[in-house]
Formats: sequence, structure tokens, C-alpha cells
Amino acid sequence: MKLLAPSVLSADFSKLREQLEDVEKGGADWIHCDIMDGHFTPNITFGPFILESIRRSTKLFLDVHLMIMNPDLFIPEFAKSGADLLTIHYESTIHLHRTIHLVKSLGLKVGVSINPATPVEFLFETLECVDLVLIMSVNPGFGGQKFIESSLRKVKKLKQIRDKEKYNFLIEVDGGVKLENLDLLIEAGCDVFVAGSAIFNSNNIEEETKKFKKIINKN
Ligand code: DX5
Ligand code: ZN
Repeated sequence: MKLLAPSVLSADFSKLREQLEDVEKGGADWIHCDIMDGHFTPNITFGPFILESIRRSTKLFLDVHLMIMNPDLFIPEFAKSGADLLTIHYESTIHLHRTIHLVKSLGLKVGVSINPATPVEFLFETLECVDLVLIMSVNPGFGGQKFIESSLRKVKKLKQIRDKEKYNFLIEVDGGVKLENLDLLIEAGCDVFVAGSAIFNSNNIEEETKKFKKIINKN
């Protein structure tokens, strides 16, 4: 299963419903929502209140990427606001195993993520109990950054261990994803492709989404 998850970080929030409809018409599978707190990231985005409006503006699965410190404090609120999946950063919580199980206890799917400087091996003990692993291919904080090539190595390692141990998690890549590097990402083993600026900064969001889907679907 290969999925496209446009990231609303680069959307025009004054036209959010319209732009969500455009990606939906273009065939987007999930909507990726970046939550930043100004501590974990050098940027602030939005919290549960806005997420609730996004929930009311689309029927698509909401893939919520928590880039916040102390995620346990806010997870129940994000769950109530309509998230379908919550992804937690390894670097943001001391007791990752506990945080994973907190998300699961609320009936949501759960993902784990690492920054570019964190070895993928640090997630290995969690792989049997997560639905998704998100490999950051830029440093969290902003859209439109350059893809960091070493992320491909991490994706390959994850795929290898998933095949060997028969785990079920999806592999997601986030940051610098463009039409031009999709083939390379697919070849490495990615299942979920997050794209922010490449989709929302284009002149025709629906058509651009279709172009991404065409490449993803042919694989
Ligand atoms: C970065 C965010 C990404 C961001 C990707 O911290 O996690 O989801 O929206 O943006 P692009 O696709 O523009 O690199
Ligand atoms: Zn993200």
C-alpha cells in the first residue's frame, strides 16, 4: 500500500477548505498535520483547536505529526480533536514506550519518528507495537527544505528489519519530497509520502496531487 499525505504546513490557511478539497480531488490519501510548539522546533504552527477545524473540513485520514515537547500532556486533546494517527518523536519524550501505549489506549493509530541526526536503530525496540515509522528527511521546523540523502539508508534498514521480523508498520518519509525524488524513495521502501511545498505552492494543487499519485500508483 502506497499513500500520499499532503502536508498542510504549506497550505494557504485562508483557503484551507478549498485547498483540502483540491488535494482530495487529486487523489490524496491522508492529510499530514504538523504540530510545532516553538520548543521542539524553531517554529510554531497550531494546536487541537485548529485541528478540529481541519477535521470538519475533510473526510480524509488525519496523520498528525507531533513535534512538541512533553507530548503526553497534549495527546488526549489531539485525540479528541479528530486525529486518526499520532506520531511522536523519539527525541521529545523520555518514556517513548509509555507514550506509544497512551496513544493506543485512546484508540488511535500510533507512529514514531526520528530527526535526521538520530540513528534509526534507536526505534528498533518499538517496531513491534507501532503502526508507522516516520523518517524525517529534513530537520523539523519548516517547509521547503532540501532533502537529506542519508534518510534513504534509514528507510532501507527499516524495510529490511520489517521483512525479516514480519512487522506491520508503514514507512513514511517527510521533508523535501518532490516529484523528482519519488522513484528513489519508492525503491528504498517508503510507503507514505508527505509533500508540503511541492503540492501546496504549485499553481494547480489538484493537478500537482495527481502527478504525485500517478508516480506512486505505478509502483
Ligand atoms: C517539517 C514538516 C513537514 C513539512 C514538509 O518539519 O514535518 O511535514 O511540511 O514540507 P516540504 O514537503 O515542503 O519539505
Ligand atoms: Zn511532518
